[in-house]
Amino acid sequence: MDYETILVEKRDEVGIITLNRPKALNALNSVLLKELRHILSSFSADDSIGAIIITGSEKAFAAGADIKEMQGLDFVDAYVGDFLGGWDEVAATRKPVIAAVSGFALGGGCELAMMCDFIIASETAKFGQPEITLGVIPGMGGSQRLTRAVGKAKAMDLVLTGRMMDAAEAERAGLVSRVVPAANLMDEAVEAATRIASLSRASVLMAKESVNRSFEVPLSEGLRYERRSFQSLFATADQKEGMAAFVEKRKPAFRNR
Ligand code: CAA
Repeated sequence: MDYETILVEKRDEVGIITLNRPKALNALNSVLLKELRHILSSFSADDSIGAIIITGSEKAFAAGADIKEMQGLDFVDAYVGDFLGGWDEVAATRKPVIAAVSGFALGGGCELAMMCDFIIASETAKFGQPEITLGVIPGMGGSQRLTRAVGKAKAMDLVLTGRMMDAAEAERAGLVSRVVPAANLMDEAVEAATRIASLSRASVLMAKESVNRSFEVPLSEGLRYERRSFQSLFATADQKEGMAAFVEKRKPAFRNR
């Protein structure tokens, strides 16, 4: 498939998706959603891909849902057409997804970054949920994922005032896992993704599922889920290899079995 709004690259076992609507600061329109879903599903089915990076430009990861595209919607269009509902599929990607964020990550852009498993931010990154300034509220998970990431006080502050926070504040608040100089952003993201892709696929997928489970279930259920997943990994050849390699003081050679 030829893509209009994204660029796609494979670097060894890492799939890189670059949002590419520079004139609209990567605003997320319906074509972009369709293309993102297509490439994510293709990376998911591709055994040679072990981790995925979503990034944007230096100026903008994404400045939100496309305001010009949605401004004319009425309630029935939005509700019956399940406007923005398709983003759930992006969030449900099973392989690890890293957001490499430089510049604006606003509204849907911040929400897309939060759908990823973790965010590496450049020093220039700015995060915010400015929907309130447009007479609406976040619609791709901002009020839920931001609150879980940074707590009620800061989420309310950002969602109610629409202000932006810089990378340093986002790191202090726990929204991003690391902040790096802008020039190193992609190197850092590719290094992290390459490392993840080199590990045993089953344990990586289970680790992601297990962390995500903590947002859905009570602690006792989450602990049980984690323990069963942990125990089940003893059925894999990669567990035998990983532990043998440690004991024999060598690097493991995982075979995804
Ligand atoms: N949708 C559509 N177009 C957008 C856009 C968006 N979200 N954000 C920026 N653009 C367009 C601008 O309209 C402009 O296009 P033109 O040259 O054709 O006028 C171009 O991108 C460049 O933008 P600016 O001239 O505004 O650039 P700037 O550097 O002066 O300002 C900015 C940058 C502060 C990010 C500003 O563009 C801005 O405030 N953007 C909107 C941010 C926003 O409100 N996002 C939330 C959208 S709603 C949403 O996301 C709902 C949800 O929960 C899913």
